[in-house]
Amino acid sequence: MSPIPDERPAVTLRGFRPSDVPFVSSIVADALHEHYDPSLYLSLSSEWPEGFLIAADSHDVPVAFLLGVSQVEREARILMFAVDRYRRAQGIGRLLMTTFFERCRDRGYARVTLEVRVSNATAIRFYTRFDYSVVDLLRNYYSDGENGYQMARPLP
Ligand SMILES: CC(C)(COP(=O)(O)OP(=O)(O)OC[C@H]1O[C@@H](n2cnc3c(N)ncnc32)[C@H](O)[C@@H]1OP(=O)(O)O)[C@@H](O)C(=O)NCCC(=O)NCCS
Repeated sequence: MSPIPDERPAVTLRGFRPSDVPFVSSIVADALHEHYDPSLYLSLSSEWPEGFLIAADSHDVPVAFLLGVSQVEREARILMFAVDRYRRAQGIGRLLMTTFFERCRDRGYARVTLEVRVSNATAIRFYTRFDYSVVDLLRNYYSDGENGYQMARPLP
């Protein structure tokens, strides 16, 4: 008899460390087509360390992350969120998002916002599954001129 498959993603969630920067940068370059100075990750992580979640594999190498900040009172904003292309559709994004909601509740946040390219149908579908809805159209939001949607969801 074959063993029952383990449905849980084989990753561990932990906080961001400076040594994660090369791995996070490479996921960002591939998934989000952006290149940021390493100091950006360090400064953003210092503002709300619990809002920067890393999903690491069994060798402690980051394979996905979610970077949240808070710039508006009682609100969190997801600045970056990506899963390594070879680790998608394994529940890692769901694990990051649901854990992020817990971190937000710990701080008493009532709402989460994010921005997404209007062409990013996969991410929009993902966010809709997690009860986000479009609240604004952001014209020329991205550096290449593409429009964005601002999406938001309340945190009961
Ligand atoms: C969006 C993203 C983070 C989702 O992460 P993921 O680990 O692949 O998602 P999960 O495996 O946790 O899937 C969670 C749910 O979304 C659904 N889902 C994921 N990808 C999907 C797709 N392409 N089409 C339809 N549903 C999808 C899954 O079926 C799952 O639903 P379920 O739990 O009810 O079965 C990932 O696709 C990614 O990194 N994309 C590139 C970067 C990006 O676009 N980031 C967002 C920028 S704003």
